[in-house]
Amino acid sequence: MKDTAVVTGAASGIGRAIAKRLAAEGYALALWDIDGDGLRAVAAECRERGVAVDAQRVDVGNLAAVRNATRSLGQAFDAAPLVLVNCAGIGEVASILDGSPEEFDETMRVNVRGTYNCCRELLPAMTEQGRGNVVNIASWFGKSGRPMSLAYCASKFALIGMTQSMALDLARHGIRVNAVCPGTITDTRMREEADRQAIAKGLLPAAERVHLIPLGRLGTPEDVANTVAYLISDQASYMTGQSINVTGGLWMN
Ligand SMILES: NC(=O)c1ccc[n+]([C@@H]2O[C@H](COP(=O)([O-])OP(=O)(O)OC[C@H]3O[C@@H](n4cnc5c(N)ncnc54)[C@H](O)[C@@H]3O)[C@@H](O)[C@H]2O)c1
Repeated sequence: MKDTAVVTGAASGIGRAIAKRLAAEGYALALWDIDGDGLRAVAAECRERGVAVDAQRVDVGNLAAVRNATRSLGQAFDAAPLVLVNCAGIGEVASILDGSPEEFDETMRVNVRGTYNCCRELLPAMTEQGRGNVVNIASWFGKSGRPMSLAYCASKFALIGMTQSMALDLARHGIRVNAVCPGTITDTRMREEADRQAIAKGLLPAAERVHLIPLGRLGTPEDVANTVAYLISDQASYMTGQSINVTGGLWMN
């Protein structure tokens, strides 16, 4: 019997692919998202794999909501989750000149504070058990400043810093903390929305930037899910504090 894993942002895109991949590996799943309809559909897909699934509407940026959801896991599962995948995220195509302070705050609230909230509430059970795994879904925009992505870049740089700091503090508790930095991933709502905003601002959509990707294609949510599955497995037992690019070679540092 595999551990229980919490996957945030599980209703769509990359989070959905991670949930399905972990279900296929036999993990019991707690799926958190603000999109109730999407959650129900993904939960049903995961249950087809025969694993226990608890899906809850949770705004990860709201500490009280995350705390309530964490408490309720005790009724849903026999054992506390020992895997946390922080995938919930938002982003705007905007620079310092045309973005709003409100958008900046909301991006930091969901992407950074949301990850902080989930770690804060779920890590104590892992330290008690003396083992666990956290994977933060960052971005290659967390390694290189990109145009028209001010708040998003700030939030993803922060996630990489948090990943490294937590890895140092938690290693002695047997907990590994890593990040995945996806490149241009297709078939997600964020990608559709980013393309829509890019076109409206006279920029190229992702499909027209494929020639810049050495492996010659956009990434899939499954490409990211494969890396998450590896990082939480014993195959990666000597890896912590890493931020792994899944970019088709677009970014190499
Ligand atoms: N698509 C890409 O090209 C790409 C590239 C790099 C990184 N990422 C990252 O991957 C992650 C998933 O993005 P995606 O592309 O699958 O987009 P997506 O929009 O399909 O999925 C994001 C999910 O997060 C959920 N969410 C948003 N705000 C939330 C909140 N406050 N609380 C709980 N859930 C919330 C959404 O409802 C949605 O289901 C994000 O962190 C994103 O920054 C995506």
